[in-house]
Amino acid sequence: MNPVPCEPGFSQADTAVSLEGVVKKYHDQTVLHAVSLKIRRGEFLTLLGPSGCGKTTLLNLIAGFAEADRGEVFIDGQPVTSEPPHRRQIGLVFQNYALFPHMTVERNIGYGLRMQGVPRDEAARRIRDAMAMVKLDGLGHRKPRELSGGQQQRVALARALVIQPKVLLLDEPFSALDKSLRGSMQVEIREIQRRLGLTTVFVTHDQGEALAMSDRIAVMSGGVIRQIAPPAELYQSPQDPFVASFLGDVNILPAHYHGQSAGDVQLRLGSGLISLSQDRLVNASHEGERLDVYVRPEHLRMESLHPASVLSGTVVNHVFQGDHINTFVDVDLPMTARQIVTVRSPGLGALQQWPVGAVAGLALAGEGVSVFSPRP
Ligand SMILES: Nc1ncnc2c1ncn2[C@@H]1O[C@H](COP(=O)(O)OP(=O)(O)OP(=O)(O)O)[C@@H](O)[C@H]1O
Ligand SMILES: [Mg+2]
Repeated sequence: MNPVPCEPGFSQADTAVSLEGVVKKYHDQTVLHAVSLKIRRGEFLTLLGPSGCGKTTLLNLIAGFAEADRGEVFIDGQPVTSEPPHRRQIGLVFQNYALFPHMTVERNIGYGLRMQGVPRDEAARRIRDAMAMVKLDGLGHRKPRELSGGQQQRVALARALVIQPKVLLLDEPFSALDKSLRGSMQVEIREIQRRLGLTTVFVTHDQGEALAMSDRIAVMSGGVIRQIAPPAELYQSPQDPFVASFLGDVNILPAHYHGQSAGDVQLRLGSGLISLSQDRLVNASHEGERLDVYVRPEHLRMESLHPASVLSGTVVNHVFQGDHINTFVDVDLPMTARQIVTVRSPGLGALQQWPVGAVAGLALAGEGVSVFSPRP
């Protein structure tokens, strides 16, 4: 079952990789449930999801290290489901580098070219170009143990690029690097990928990394793609409660369906009614139905309490975050146990204006709100 149809707006000729109804089982556990996915030529696509959701398994099916129980994998329009990995022309970079410790940097990078029988002169030129591209000039004669973690990761990247792959697969390539090195490698990989127009599938469980790097993100959980879309669309219009809460921070407020008029829906929330555009409500609803309103901290605003405020509460804490303040507000909601919501305000103003103990009204920005049926 794949709840979101993955019919992207590009043609067959523009499709570099396509998975159709791919099922993967290990023993009697199904780890991918009929996954369908199309990846555009030159696209940087990220698979994002919690540990164990099937990200590496999906990469292994594209690379040929695992075989699908059902469904087909296509590369450049050709079925490759029964092709072995070395016939698929795929570049791979893993989290743990997987370099050969006894080989020099040059020999590590040239490994795939020797396997393909590329003539020595051409191989030497391609190795030189790949080393220049990842900024490893002058380190060709070292062994991996004589390199830093970041340099070793560059060797792994050069080894993947030198074979001029049809598709580059990156499985959590930055997880062993410190934060600042991670940031610069992200920028560099993206720049190389753009320059070469290289179709890339990148695996991470770091949402910030996914938002920063991707043309599109496929959010996975439990062996299913929940939603696939460009980063801003996923963040602003999640189609699934899992996506809404996995990507970015979110407050979940209990509400009831009230009615609709002229393209808007009304929900009973707190002490009143709120009106939202119909498209914020993913499932059709009937009067009185329990719903959850998902609102991000930056889409809530504190205001002076007035009779029309549907939400109000008491400020219980502030957390200074440099460029913004997170304010925690204990909200008064009928028939609900104590609920703390987070409000994000730019700058420092909230500290003075709404000190701890202050009572504030809370206003919602309609476009930053999504509504779903409560998760079971
Ligand atoms: N070779 C295998 N034999 C049996 N089960 C496996 C095998 N490989 C993966 N699995 C199971 O398949 C599921 C998906 O694993 P996968 O490695 O694809 O997850 P992942 O999303 O990459 O997780 P992580 O973020 O931790 O790397 C897990 O439940 C895992 O235990
Ligand atoms: Mg994995």
